[in-house]
Amino acid sequence: MKWTKDLSTGIEKIDEQHRELFEKINDLVAAVRQGVCKYKISDVIRFLEEYVVFHFGEEEKYMQQFGYPGYQVHKAYHEKFIENFNELKKELPKLEGGKKPGSYDLSVMTNQVVVDWILDHIAKVDKRLGEFLKGKV
Ligand SMILES: [Fe+2]
Ligand SMILES: [Fe+2]
Repeated sequence: MKWTKDLSTGIEKIDEQHRELFEKINDLVAAVRQGVCKYKISDVIRFLEEYVVFHFGEEEKYMQQFGYPGYQVHKAYHEKFIENFNELKKELPKLEGGKKPGSYDLSVMTNQVVVDWILDHIAKVDKRLGEFLKGKV
């Protein structure tokens, strides 16, 4: 997945974090595709998870600071992502069982839970926040 200019929120700090997020997500996608022995999926997951929490926190700080009217809704999206991400995490110990590393199921799930969600969230929800923050930060 590639960060492109049309994903820009217009807020440099947020865009920078999104680009960083993309790199981490690409690491995860590669890890899932290539298999747990080679890349240690759980390490990548932990890393991505920490960064996601940090990034959501930064956006929420901005929203609170400037009294963003869509704060509750936006925050609820973030919480939903973390919930879904935790579901994905639960699939990982099953790697040795049914779902093999590099399996179709896990790849599809990662793509839906992480890749599709982030792209959609940035393009719609974060961009709306960017519009609001323009000229304020
Ligand atoms: Fe974001
Ligand atoms: Fe967001």
